[in-house]
Amino acid sequence: MRILLLTRSFNSLSQRLYLDLTALGHAVSVELDIADAVTIEAVALFKPALIVAPYLTRAIPESIWRQTVCLIVHPGVVGDRGPSALDWAIAEGEREWGVTVLQAVAALDAGPVWAAETFALREATKSSIYRQEVTAAASRAVVAAVRHFEAQGSALPAADWPGARGRPRRAMTQADRRIAWARDGTQAVLRALRAADGSPGVLDALFDTPCHLFDGHAQPLHHRHEPGLVIARRGDALLRTTIDGAVWIGHVRRADGAGHFKRPAALAFPAQSAELPIWPGALDAQAGAAGASDIRLEVEAETVYLHFNFHNGAMSATQCESLNAALRQALALPQRVLVLLGGADFWCNGIHLNVIEAADSPADESWHNITAMNDLTRTLIEANDRIVVAAMQGNAGAGGVFMALAADQVWARRGVVLNPHYKNMGNLYGSEYWTYLLPRRLRAGSVDTVMNRRLPLDAEQALPLGLVDAVFGASPPAFIAEVRQRATELARDADLPALLRAKRNRRDADEARMPLSSYREAEEVRMRRNFYGFDPSYHIARANFVHRVPASWTPRHLAIHRQTPPAPPAPPTAAQSDPDQVTGGSGSQPAG
Ligand code: COA
Repeated sequence: MRILLLTRSFNSLSQRLYLDLTALGHAVSVELDIADAVTIEAVALFKPALIVAPYLTRAIPESIWRQTVCLIVHPGVVGDRGPSALDWAIAEGEREWGVTVLQAVAALDAGPVWAAETFALREATKSSIYRQEVTAAASRAVVAAVRHFEAQGSALPAADWPGARGRPRRAMTQADRRIAWARDGTQAVLRALRAADGSPGVLDALFDTPCHLFDGHAQPLHHRHEPGLVIARRGDALLRTTIDGAVWIGHVRRADGAGHFKRPAALAFPAQSAELPIWPGALDAQAGAAGASDIRLEVEAETVYLHFNFHNGAMSATQCESLNAALRQALALPQRVLVLLGGADFWCNGIHLNVIEAADSPADESWHNITAMNDLTRTLIEANDRIVVAAMQGNAGAGGVFMALAADQVWARRGVVLNPHYKNMGNLYGSEYWTYLLPRRLRAGSVDTVMNRRLPLDAEQALPLGLVDAVFGASPPAFIAEVRQRATELARDADLPALLRAKRNRRDADEARMPLSSYREAEEVRMRRNFYGFDPSYHIARANFVHRVPASWTPRHLAIHRQTPPAPPAPPTAAQSDPDQVTGGSGSQPAG
């Protein structure tokens, strides 16, 4: 079938569904929901048998849904309606939640139901639930709905759906989200922050400045403090007291002027943060605070696990340096298997574009960041006395994918989505030794296809290409359990000494053919041009991305209906004139 994915942005959920529907053999094209006239034009051009809408913030034009069945993916249980479905579910402490695939009709979220799935609602942020449970449930439900549609099935009114229990709910406002610091305990504060995570955040104030708060983590305190005070800092996170403990605030978006965007909390308030005492804690401390303990070393008898979990998978220069230091510490240990475990939502999305945008000189900070990222990648490549495993529980993009390829083995959770290309970020050339790592790994396909196709791949597709070596585990806990088992088996493998010898020989031979430093120099020449050259495409694309500027056109590589007749070659410069080279804003927030 021809299926049109109509979505506000080609976000992680849309990418997952794109891959699922393509794998079923359908011809899938994407149109970003920009304006009714553009959507109507896309439908006329593509003539889809079915429209699937994973993420919309407004209604589909009536002329479209009357003519073509439109399946809306709603992140709520059957009967739930409204644009703040997940926000209410988290705020009200639901134990079980779901995803409903319903048909578009005149009233929002009120159409008959084609498929529905439920899941246990974890105590986690909205973004994390969206990227894990909602995405997995939506994937199952959309596949079921599409199969049902193909088999000429029909939809059921929500009221007739077995177990329907949802109800219409209004949009959640900032008044609903407000934290009463003088009254709220840590759990209530966390719940408010989690329900608003990603977007829009909780409108509050720090240092008497209005700002939106994100990325909250609990911190028990031994002494009582007056609630609402910011009492310490660790990394870039700030510690604020509640009536029964404290919460770390990892990220904020200031609301005291135009042009502000989300950034690590201490960077948003540098002068005030510098005055705060540093919260003590060691590298291997068990905690979950943003920016505070996001790197952790776990040492077992035969294996070492290096956990890192950076907000949104973005790695600033400082974070790369900290991870490199922890990596060196791990490499000094005698165990012969080292497993790098990224976060459950993201493995890594490359250099930290928000921190770069916030710098006095974004070009200099880009350079600083890519240098630190390359140093980290080199440490991985040169770790020649042990087997290094990159264990991807979560998605990876751009430099984050190539950093993983520096490991000897890449293991990925089933369903993980990879974006192994840089070009969407204003035609960035990319570094992280990709010119060395990618060709030596590819078992099928070409370097050009991987780098220039600019489409997502899932772990299953990446396997035959050689980008990953094993795919298993349907959920992060199942994946980690199997990672541990496989890592232990690897450490006990009688062939381990031979594997290590082969690894050293290969690296020596590679170095003799072309030194690592030469790959790096050549990549960095191109990156310097991206950062400091006359073409501002990268800087424009980064600013659009960081400021979440909505896309104003659909890139041609996604909209296959706009590829006939073939588009003329893209002009080489001026990012704004070439939609394919600009990453516009791509808000990924769940919508009803
Ligand atoms: N730096 C800073 N923030 C980043 C980031 C990066 N490299 N990559 C992702 N993020 C943030 C987004 O701003 C967003 O923030 P918010 O939801 O808190 O507002 C969040 O991570 C999720 O990103 P989003 O684009 O909504 O997620 P997705 O899963 O739909 O898409 C990617 C994933 C990787 C395709 C997309 O995030 C992307 O293109 N990232 C940039 C990759 C890149 O070019 N890196 C630089 C070159 S190495």
